[in-house]
Amino acid sequence: MERMKVTETFEGIALPGHLHTQESLGFAAAFTFRPTDVLIATYPKSGTTWMQEILTLLYSLGDARPAKTIPNWERAPWLEQIYCREALRDTESPRLLTTHLPAHVLAPALQRSKAKVIYVARNPKDVAVSFYHFHHLAKFLPDPSSFDAFLTQFLEGTVHYGSWFEHVKGWLGQRHLLDILYVTYEEMHQDLRGTAQRLSSFLGCPLAPGTLAALEQHCSFSAMRDNAMANYSLIPAEIMDHSQGRFMRKGVVGDWRSHFSPEQNALFNRRYQEEMGDVELPSQWPM
Ligand code: A3P
Repeated sequence: MERMKVTETFEGIALPGHLHTQESLGFAAAFTFRPTDVLIATYPKSGTTWMQEILTLLYSLGDARPAKTIPNWERAPWLEQIYCREALRDTESPRLLTTHLPAHVLAPALQRSKAKVIYVARNPKDVAVSFYHFHHLAKFLPDPSSFDAFLTQFLEGTVHYGSWFEHVKGWLGQRHLLDILYVTYEEMHQDLRGTAQRLSSFLGCPLAPGTLAALEQHCSFSAMRDNAMANYSLIPAEIMDHSQGRFMRKGVVGDWRSHFSPEQNALFNRRYQEEMGDVELPSQWPM
């Protein structure tokens, strides 16, 4: 299957051209947030879809029907993607929104508002592995040659969506400027109930009896893998070649161990130290 060739570049970052235009990116940067808006911000492959599902279940008080009948990109549209303006036309508050954009693009609009932000981060080694596999099925991303070549680009920040380091540092830098909660993929894995409780108090969204049990069931990896409204199986094959793998691939912590050579790991650790060594990280940070 042929690759889609168009890339849209914004603020020096390459983005898939079938989803982004200068107009849609400008719309995101100038967005008027409502005080009740909740924005999920992530670098790709960090648990975005999982967080969309968790928030859907929290706001529905555990009713799985919205999660099972409405695609996740309508439940929590991507602010920067071309369909967002239309998707939000009749949406009532509280609106759930999603973004992969770096903080410096959205910070001015967010700082003018009282919107809440949830930043989800994942161990970048697992992000790199997940992103590499995703490049095989996503026809809107460049063809990945070898894992080694991909890892080099990931560490240089020349992959689509830009540098993981810059993304994370940018959003961490907003901690005193925005109403923002930092969550990790790893803590969702370890204690989904605890994470849901933390989210519920941050959002002021009370937990109805039964919400946590329903959330745990519907947001499990196996339930989401089988939910067509969350697993991207509805996306046509020209955009995602489903014969090349599944969006819901493994859903585990530490898969990098079966992909990284000792040399790649040493290189990664060096780069990580250079970039993140001086950064004050929230507790429970993945690396
Ligand atoms: P893997 O490729 O490691 O399996 P995003 O939604 O940000 O693109 O992230 C996708 C990654 O999150 C994939 O990782 C996917 O399997 C994982 N994921 C999605 N839902 C999950 C869940 N309920 N439990 C664990 N992992 C999940």
